[in-house]
Amino acid sequence: MRSSSDAHPAGPADALRWPRPALLGWGGAWAAFAALVRVGAPTWPAFAAAALLGTMAAMLGTTRWRRALIGAGFPLSFAATGLAAGLTPWAWLLPLAVLALVYPLRSWTDAPVFPTPRGALAGLARRVPLAPGARVLDAGCGLGDALRELAREYPQARLEGVEWSLPLTLLAALRCRSAQVRRADLWAEDWSRFELVYLFQRPESMARADAKASAELRPGAWLASLEFEAAGLEPETRHRCADGRVLWLYRAPLRHRPTRSPTGS
Ligand SMILES: C[S@@+](CC[C@H](N)C(=O)[O-])C[C@H]1O[C@@H](n2cnc3c(N)ncnc32)[C@H](O)[C@@H]1O
Repeated sequence: MRSSSDAHPAGPADALRWPRPALLGWGGAWAAFAALVRVGAPTWPAFAAAALLGTMAAMLGTTRWRRALIGAGFPLSFAATGLAAGLTPWAWLLPLAVLALVYPLRSWTDAPVFPTPRGALAGLARRVPLAPGARVLDAGCGLGDALRELAREYPQARLEGVEWSLPLTLLAALRCRSAQVRRADLWAEDWSRFELVYLFQRPESMARADAKASAELRPGAWLASLEFEAAGLEPETRHRCADGRVLWLYRAPLRHRPTRSPTGS
């Protein structure tokens, strides 16, 4: 059996292996600051824009500590240079306020915004055929990229997306007009209404997804997880995406793998 790490050649998790996200966040923020000052921007808007970029990059970190490190890198190094003396105090708060709006705290504990790549789900409808009018949920729909892919695969399905971040919810609704998109907590949604629940979250979220899907999915319904395997479940099948990633497909009633004792017996 394959683990999620050897299931594909290179997903975003591989490309952004630590400490690359930190280097990207800090380097990107400093490059943005330098470029803005070079074209004549005053210090505080240049700082605010660069710090916002740095805090957005923080979402690439896979743990809270790493996110904090990425996000704090630019403002702290900026303060250390002495450049901060010329800043109005709220220039420090602006990027944090925007970040809190785009990524409210709850979504920090689940997954950052990595969109499902275009074309990733091509061919899924052949592997998992759904009746016309079937309900499909993208749980944590981000900017709506997976909803668009699902709409291409299942043009006759009733698509729904839930997303915790309000700005992302609004953007997803605009980008995928055929879907009903709401701001809601994916863990509070009732999954029993859906024939297919699509997830692209984090490895750490999969045990919770397993428990929720096991409790709620109706017989015959599917749980699809891009890239991250639910280790406790036996997949019904796998879909190999165009970019080599695996979409793990579990069908209710879900089959649980036997748990091993610590001695391996
Ligand atoms: C990796 S992105 C996937 C976006 C989209 N499903 C796609 O594949 O294109 C994960 C999304 O889940 C959202 N999210 C994380 N936790 C959530 C929660 N508890 N409730 C709703 N959305 C959540 C994040 O804000 C983020 O937009």
